[in-house]
Amino acid sequence: MPDANNYKITALLFAALMLACSASAMEVVSPDGRIVFAVNLDADGKPHYSISYGVETVIAESRLGIRFKDHAGVEESMREVAVERRSSDSVWQQPWGERRDVRDHYNELMVKFASAVGPERHFALRVRVHDDGIGFRYEVPEQSYYDEVDIVDELTEFDLPRAATAWWIPGRGWNRYEELYRTTPIDDVSLAHTPVTLRLASGTHISLHEAALIDYSGYMLDQRRPGVFQTNLAPRSDGVRVKARTPFVTPWRTIQISPDAVGLLNSNLILNLNEPNVLGDVSWVEPGKYVGIWWAMHLGINTWGSGAKHGATTANAERYIDFAAENGFDGVLVEGWNTGWDGSWFDNGSVFSFTEPYADFDLQAVSDYARKNGVRLIGHHETSGHVSNYESQMSAAYDLYESLGIRQVKTGYVADGGQMQRVDANGVTHYEWHDAQFAVNHFERVLTEAARRKISINTHEPVKATGLRRTYPNWISREGARGQEYNATWAKPNPPEHNVLLAFTRLLGGPMDFTPGIFDLLHQGPDSGFRVQSTLMHQLALYVVLYSPVQMAADLPENYGRYPDAFEFIVHVPTDWEESIALTGGVGDYVAFARKERDGDDWYLGAITDEEPRAISIPLDFLDAGRDYVATIYRDGDNADWKTSPYDYVIEERQLDHSTSLELLLAAGGGAAIRFRPAEKAEQQ
Ligand code: NOJ
Ligand code: CA
Repeated sequence: MPDANNYKITALLFAALMLACSASAMEVVSPDGRIVFAVNLDADGKPHYSISYGVETVIAESRLGIRFKDHAGVEESMREVAVERRSSDSVWQQPWGERRDVRDHYNELMVKFASAVGPERHFALRVRVHDDGIGFRYEVPEQSYYDEVDIVDELTEFDLPRAATAWWIPGRGWNRYEELYRTTPIDDVSLAHTPVTLRLASGTHISLHEAALIDYSGYMLDQRRPGVFQTNLAPRSDGVRVKARTPFVTPWRTIQISPDAVGLLNSNLILNLNEPNVLGDVSWVEPGKYVGIWWAMHLGINTWGSGAKHGATTANAERYIDFAAENGFDGVLVEGWNTGWDGSWFDNGSVFSFTEPYADFDLQAVSDYARKNGVRLIGHHETSGHVSNYESQMSAAYDLYESLGIRQVKTGYVADGGQMQRVDANGVTHYEWHDAQFAVNHFERVLTEAARRKISINTHEPVKATGLRRTYPNWISREGARGQEYNATWAKPNPPEHNVLLAFTRLLGGPMDFTPGIFDLLHQGPDSGFRVQSTLMHQLALYVVLYSPVQMAADLPENYGRYPDAFEFIVHVPTDWEESIALTGGVGDYVAFARKERDGDDWYLGAITDEEPRAISIPLDFLDAGRDYVATIYRDGDNADWKTSPYDYVIEERQLDHSTSLELLLAAGGGAAIRFRPAEKAEQQ
């Protein structure tokens, strides 16, 4: 019976083929073939996923699912009902940014699940696999079982390799994100804010974070079992993690993957997973450099509140405006201009006025004076975390700023974690986290309110950065980490490794208003314990290393006069880039970036190290081929050391081109900053 045998063989082959297909039907591979994301259901219908990178398992079989308060969740007894696939390769432009063109190239898999037993439930998992990592999110469509649900837990797990080093900060504490980074074995990570950066035993680097955090609560990584982390969503004040209404999507859970440390810094994954600009023409969003009545308060020379030391006086503001105009800065920030600062201002959230200036500050005259001098006043709204007091004045406050021609406002939310105040319609105060759903939605309301008046926002004490600057290009910068302010007089200074760690952790989320450029490094004298733990050249390099479209020259104007040749670098360095390349580095050890100015030919380079001095060799192959350049090199001197000799520096010029390899010596706590000009242009200047 040859025919029957043939039939059997064909049937067997067909079955085998179907098995192979159904196994691979649940996999999606990056365009370069290195990253594989696999989705499957276990015997109980619990959805799981895993990720491999070449031969390496980056995430072993890990759970997926969402648990609801009064409804059955989407976590077990599920079946797969459809699989959709798509690929996309496009380039989009940033209105401002670390690079103009961003390539978005991925393969997408969407698996639709429905309940196999119990109430009828539906959800989908959408996965995008890029060459630089993965994003996946839950999509919950309209369904008859519910339209509103309370999310009490998201079960997403990350089962990570046990032999890994982690760089992380603890979450859910009083100090929000303003913690020093820990370097520990993965086993020692407790509840950690993202981005968390990891180096696996193989040398592969990964970063866990999220993209497009909208109308949801931010998550922290919670190590539930050794090596097995779960998304722990910030709770709302009512105890629920998220209140959702169908249809809804969660933020993307992201895993950036790179063979080395700097690969993480060159990744566009977070931006690519955000929605395009919803604001239309944003030519009014202006990158630039600013100075401000700011550091003097942190040093105790001035006060935010009224009195003899009040910093925000008309005369002082005009002095800063003159300094800004003389040196080509775009903005002058004035903190402490409005009533409400007197007494203990971090407890004054309910009394701040956002429209009434102190008597010694003539807001109209100062903003007119600024405009006349080609500078803009930068507004300031410190809320001390009292969101309701702020929201009740927001519209009037932004109208006022719009009428004064103000284009940028720095906001602040100084309140302990979990202590943002929201007063409900009955006058009851509720206490909220800076990264829970209420705060996330508040920050979005501010952006919308500001955008209507062509105003950009630089948030301090914000929620973490998840790439929303793409959707709202007026979210121009934010703090959200331990900044320069800790090097003043009210805290233990940041150790030399801190800035290098920021580059590999916090900055993966997006721009940071770190406020570089302190020139009086020993402001309280060499033995006071309060100082900046870096060399002067390290401060210059930060303008290139720690990306922000708005960069402050944070020190007092008079201190820049002490090192005018070094100050030149700050005067020249742009804050908006055509291209950026992280060249070399090790997490927490050192890092070097090259960036090309937007609408110009100059390249800039910034390199910083931790407490270890080091020699780094940098091939200049990023420079345009066939062009000669004049490089002005601002480097640590031979005896420089952040502890003993932070002001030992050398500024020298060299002719070079893209075939040159530059040897740079970075002192302990040191750095180097370089401006490369095409030779023909340098001659003309
Ligand atoms: C904390 C901010 O980070 C800092 O820059 C500001 O000066 C104070 N809050 C006061 O608003
Ligand atoms: Ca702060």
